[in-house]
Amino acid sequence: MLKDLIARKSLYQINQQAQEDSLKRHLDLTNIVLLGIGAIIGAGIFVLTGTAAALHAGPAISISFIISAFGCLLAGLCYAEFASMLPVSGSAYTYGYATLGEFVAWIIGWDLILEYLFGSATVAVGWSGYVISFLNDFGIHLPATICQSPFAYGPDGWYQTGAIINFPAVFIIALMTTLLVIGIKESARFNNIIVIVKVGVILLFVGFGISYIDVENWKPFLPENTGKFSEFGWTGVLTGAAVVFFAYIGFDAVSTTAQEAVNPQRDLPKGILLSLAVCTLLYVTVSLVMTGIVKYTELNVPAPIAVAIDATGKGLAWLSPFIKIGAIAGLSSVVMVLLLGQSRVFYSMAHDGLLWKSFAKTHPKYKTPYLTSIVTGLFAALFAGFLPIGLLGELVSIGTLLAFVIVCLGLIVLRKKEPDAPRAFRTPWVPFVPVLGALICLAQMAALPKDTWIRLIGWMLIGFVIYFSYGRKHSRVRMENHNHRTE
Ligand code: ALA
Repeated sequence: MLKDLIARKSLYQINQQAQEDSLKRHLDLTNIVLLGIGAIIGAGIFVLTGTAAALHAGPAISISFIISAFGCLLAGLCYAEFASMLPVSGSAYTYGYATLGEFVAWIIGWDLILEYLFGSATVAVGWSGYVISFLNDFGIHLPATICQSPFAYGPDGWYQTGAIINFPAVFIIALMTTLLVIGIKESARFNNIIVIVKVGVILLFVGFGISYIDVENWKPFLPENTGKFSEFGWTGVLTGAAVVFFAYIGFDAVSTTAQEAVNPQRDLPKGILLSLAVCTLLYVTVSLVMTGIVKYTELNVPAPIAVAIDATGKGLAWLSPFIKIGAIAGLSSVVMVLLLGQSRVFYSMAHDGLLWKSFAKTHPKYKTPYLTSIVTGLFAALFAGFLPIGLLGELVSIGTLLAFVIVCLGLIVLRKKEPDAPRAFRTPWVPFVPVLGALICLAQMAALPKDTWIRLIGWMLIGFVIYFSYGRKHSRVRMENHNHRTE
């Protein structure tokens, strides 16, 4: 029994899978970097930054962004070595399979649902909010009954909102799913355009906003702690880092495109690290400009960039609609790349027999894993359309952090078990980098509320039931290993 749980997939088996599959290899380095940026820049910068500055860090939110990026960089370096060695679409799930065995692989695979599937649903709800407000600006008012989930969760438990469905959220998921089914090339092309729009809008804000900075707003840069943990001072900066971690989620999704990359071993590590670097630079600059234009105390709002623009009076008013367009575009590509990541992880799990094998079919014409894309889209639409997604939002962060911890630890095991296997990228300073990476991620997990931990444990228990009642019995690796033993 224990032997089965720690059954590892050999590098040979993994590379065999990469050759067997019929996904199309279309993505070059530019596509991959842009997919990374497409997944990263979204609700984090357009929505969360203001609250984090107003409640936790003040103008030092830019330092929070650097700290959070440092944790991601360490995890990213570990991802990069794995991606350069195991160019298959399962990402962290496959890395777990190769190092820590089937059971841990299942745990990561199940956990990645929190990051990709719940993440896409959460961002779709954010998208819906921006679209509704954008349409309102033009006098188009969608009926409230189709703009909100029918259920909500408050201090007194569940209640009905009177709404029927969050239709715009379902719409964007359906649209992005259709694109993903049609083709990876088409999806990447769409993403490239969107990334140009959203990065363009951010650069406009930074470029024109700089001249409106009043350095008085940066004083004090690091407001004094109020006496409570996480309210300003250094504990506030650290809590701010845990909050804005959400803004970086998605860079790892790049590694799920391994079987669609032209040269995965060379381009995936670069794609992961370059997209992370570009986004860190943009985030730090935006947060400096934002808190320079407007006092941080006024930023506890869902659209902080808009508030900064309004604070310039007539000066930057022309930029206002562009910011909304940038946010709408930006959030749509996040939804797309997270759905893409989820469908590829499901695809790998189905291929390994841990989920229903028929899921692993690719479309005869489009060469995409269409079944896993559609199933992912259906579940994401269900969550986004009918559930109070705020409840699940923090689960996205804790789930992602857990995956990072396991990837960091997995790298140490990989170096022990496969010291000489060829890899195009080597993480520097092992085990220092993975150990520190795991510790930083664990610290951020510890900063999340107790309820989130309870939900994470509940989610994992459901996963265990599915694994022991289905996955374990149908595992392809277990069967192959068993056949080897009896031959
Ligand atoms: N990083 C993504 C965002 O901020 C999830 O929307």
